[in-house]
Parts: sequence; C-alpha cells; structure tokens
Amino acid sequence: MLKTLPPGATIGILGGGQLGRMTALAAARLGYRCHIYCPEAGAPASQVTSLTTIADYSDQAALADFAAAVDVVTYEFENVPFVAAETLARHVPVRPGPEVLRICQNRLREKDFCREAGVPTARFAPIGSARDLHERVAEFGRPCVLKTAELGYDGKGQIAIGRDTDLDAAWARAAEAAAPAGMILEEFVDFRLEISVIVARGLDGTRRTYVPVENQHKHHILDQTIVPARVSEKVTDKAKGIARHLAEKIGLAGLLAIEMFITADERVLVNELAPRPHNSGHWTLDAAVTSQFEQLVRAIAGLPLGAPDRLADAVMKNLLGDEAAAALAAWSDPNEKLHLYGKSEARPGRKMGHTTKLIRR
Ligand SMILES: Nc1ncnc2c1ncn2[C@@H]1O[C@H](COP(=O)(O)OP(=O)(O)O)[C@@H](O)[C@H]1O
Ligand SMILES: [Mg+2]
Repeated sequence: MLKTLPPGATIGILGGGQLGRMTALAAARLGYRCHIYCPEAGAPASQVTSLTTIADYSDQAALADFAAAVDVVTYEFENVPFVAAETLARHVPVRPGPEVLRICQNRLREKDFCREAGVPTARFAPIGSARDLHERVAEFGRPCVLKTAELGYDGKGQIAIGRDTDLDAAWARAAEAAAPAGMILEEFVDFRLEISVIVARGLDGTRRTYVPVENQHKHHILDQTIVPARVSEKVTDKAKGIARHLAEKIGLAGLLAIEMFITADERVLVNELAPRPHNSGHWTLDAAVTSQFEQLVRAIAGLPLGAPDRLADAVMKNLLGDEAAAALAAWSDPNEKLHLYGKSEARPGRKMGHTTKLIRR
C-alpha cells in the first residue's frame, strides 16, 4: 500500500475551485497531472489543468470513467456527496478516505467524533423539532447558535438565537433550510480569538503540523489570517496536540484543517474540521518551507512530507468581489504577494484572490 505515485501519474480532484487550482499547480511542480471533476465549465482549477470532467457529482457513469482515468482521488471541498466518494473508492484510492469525508461534512458527526476522541468543543445537541429547540435553549441559555448540520459555509445556514429571538419562528426558518440532515444547536462561545491548525499525515503515518494561525472574520467570511496566532506557547502546544491527535484518530491520509476557539482562560475548543487545504493556510504558499498544497500532494502520493516551518511572519487577506481588481490596480508593496483565482465574475462576497504580506525581521 505504501506505493509512491510515479511521475506522470494523474491525481483526480473533486471540485474545481481555487483550492483545487492551487493543489493542481503544486502537483504540476512534482510532475503529476491533475484531472478535475466538477459540474461547471471554466472553473478556476480547470484553467490550470488539461483534463476536466464536467458532470454532476451523482453521475455514476461519469464517476466510473473518472475513476478509471486517475491514480488517486482527493477533494477540494467537503460537500461532495458521500456516495460519490464511496463509489470512487471501490476503484481507486480516495485520500482522505470516504469515512473522513462523512465525518467532516456533518457538524453533528464532527462534534461527536471530537467528543469520542476526548477533544473539547462547545456544548451541542441535535435539534429535530421546535420542542427540542425550546428545551435545549433553556438548557444552554442565550445566546446560542442554531446551524444546519450539513452544507453550511461562510456563516450560511446559521441562525443566532439572541435574547429576544422567537424560537418557533427560528425553527420555522431553520426547518426550511435543514432538511434532510437536521440541525445542531451550539452554546455561544465568548471566544477571545479564533485560530486554525492544519495537520498533514502521510501514508506512512508521519504527521506534520503548521503553526496555529489567527483568523479574523467579517460577515462570517474569513477576512484576514495572522501568522502566527497571538497566543501563548501553552495554547500553541495544546492546539497542535489536538490536531495531531485528531489526524491519528480519523486515520488521515492528506490534510485536516481544524478551526478552534480560544477563550480568555485559554481553553481550546474545536469548532470545525475540513479534510482539505484551507483558506487560513494560503500563507504557506509564500511563507512556509512547504505549502499546504504541496503537502497535500506529497501526503496522497506517498511521498515524504515536507517541513511545515514558517520562513516569515505573515498576514493573509482575502479579496472578495471587487477587491481583487482594486488590489491589482493598487499593488505596490514589494513584500506583498498577490494571488488571483481566475474567476471572471466578481460577485459580492465571492473569494476572488488573496494577498500575503510577508513580515520579515
Ligand atoms: N458556537 C459558536 N459560538 C460563537 N461563535 C460561533 C459559534 N459557531 C460559529 N461561530 C462564529 O461563526 C463563524 C462561522 O461558523 P462555522 O461554524 O465556522 O461555520 P462556517 O465556517 O462553515 O460558516 C465562526 O468562525 C465563528 O466566528
Ligand atoms: Mg468555519
């Protein structure tokens, strides 16, 4: 099983967004081809690869052809239907494995998994009815947060329950959004800051962990990542330890990004897991020995992992909508790297690119 992917082999990537694009660029440097599978034409990842299958994720015939055309499969977002990953895994190695995807695409399973692994999270409960909601809100206290168990991102599918929120109305709104995966209620964490840790695990079980970074959101979308996170050594060690532990427990082959809340009394609570490269790891392209994208390719190709060490401190800023064109026009700082994703339509809130400012001492 410890077979290294030979030069010229093909990595299949489910999803055609910027994470796939940057993974494909890293794969190309190592002599691998990438074959993108996504529903839309002209996707950011397709622009930098010669092979794309444009098909729905439930298209069994297209999935079978894709499996036959690639040597290993990975994904760049976790909302690929589990059955698609499972179908592919019958024919070709899927890394991270389908079970990892199954856990990470559902907030309840994710938090149950953390609980079983002995890793703290915010208090949570599944919510299946207005009655559940009344009972649990009474138990957790206000404020708290009601989230769809599946398919949420950038704050979508979340309802804040404040002092005056009418629970029946909230449930009516939620029930529309939730079906069929259900909802989860979480206690509100009054965090001091949010961090994330990206851990890689190779086929031989080696793990490498990037430094914890600090994430600042605007309107629930990641705005800036500050590298490293401004936390104590104790929190850094705890966060890295959690990442290493979860990577082992989940049987990772590839990358796992872990979002965490840090409280004023230095508790570390896991919020979300992503089994793929992560927006908060973009700084590694310019300021780490091995980028998260190269690390993913190395991990799934059976190559030795690279050093995750940072070469400089950095601040990564996302460019949403029109900000990308503006950043390009105003680009002047020689220590700032600009990355654009090749998306033609600059819709408001859409991730169009990012900058990484290197802070060298
Ligand atoms: N239980 C919570 N307590 C406090 N803030 C939260 C909680 N859950 C989410 N948030 C805030 O909302 C943001 C988005 O929520 P998250 O669960 O990460 O979903 P997603 O990133 O998929 O939209 C978090 O980064 C955090 O700022
Ligand atoms: Mg999140």
